[in-house]
Amino acid sequence: MGRRRGPYYLDIEKLDIERAETAMQWDPSQYARFADHRSRPFFDLVARVGADAPRQVVDLGCGSGELTATLAERWPSAHVRGIDASAEMIAAAPAGDFSVGSAQDFDATGVDVLVSNAMLQWVPDHEPIVARWCRQLDPGGWLALQVPDNFEAPSHALMRTLAESPAWSARLGTVLRDARNRVAPEAYLALLLDGGFDADVWQTDYLHLLTGEDPVLEWVRGTGLRPVLAALSAADGAAFEETYAAMLREAYPRTAHGTVLPFRRTFVVGRKAGRGPAA
Ligand SMILES: C[S@@+](CC[C@H](N)C(=O)[O-])C[C@H]1O[C@@H](n2cnc3c(N)ncnc32)[C@H](O)[C@@H]1O
Repeated sequence: MGRRRGPYYLDIEKLDIERAETAMQWDPSQYARFADHRSRPFFDLVARVGADAPRQVVDLGCGSGELTATLAERWPSAHVRGIDASAEMIAAAPAGDFSVGSAQDFDATGVDVLVSNAMLQWVPDHEPIVARWCRQLDPGGWLALQVPDNFEAPSHALMRTLAESPAWSARLGTVLRDARNRVAPEAYLALLLDGGFDADVWQTDYLHLLTGEDPVLEWVRGTGLRPVLAALSAADGAAFEETYAAMLREAYPRTAHGTVLPFRRTFVVGRKAGRGPAA
């Protein structure tokens, strides 16, 4: 069976789920290296959720759950669940209701606030999934999504250029995310409006000031580079990283203050029209 596009498993049959998860493991400690920078969009996202006393709150693609725990602090009377496709991430979660599960299988029926931060970019062709959540949420329910919109950023464009070069294409030609993982902000807006939501969609360009050696490489090691590293032996992964790091140094030069990583993100928040407990 040939390798398919996309590191995760929306586009592969159920039978392949276990194989895909094994191949593309997450490393909670590597992901946490830039925790301050990575958590900022989560707080910017949930700040726009106006629910006062939701009963059922879900953080879908919750990672290792530290941010999910802040939802329980905000809404102490709610039942807060964290769900993530990665067993490694769930194993690192704090005490609480955390479980392994997928966005594709998730049913939003009965949920008052559904949060998904920095997850859907891993799910190709995810518009129908978001549309389904919009239908399943009750009147008064809230949906809050955030996805990076950095497909064309040098960090990702250079990774693709190198992966598709003659030296690597046989092994890496199809492992990286493609345009099917990106949904335009206007399309999210239409999805929510069509679903009967009051919608609030915006983009923010963060300028992350990073320190240390090759900080952009370190950043993508925790996320976007994982499919590449999963597809290569340790030695080949190191060789790929060496070339890629040199390209990144040129694209993101170190300054006297550190290395600036510009990072655009799309935010999508909406409340389904009608009365409900989450109003
Ligand atoms: C970049 S991390 C974000 C984690 C957390 N939401 C945060 O903001 O720190 C992406 C997470 O999405 C999860 N993920 C990827 N594809 C998924 C899917 N199809 N269903 C559920 N979770 C998924 C990964 O396992 C990973 O933990």
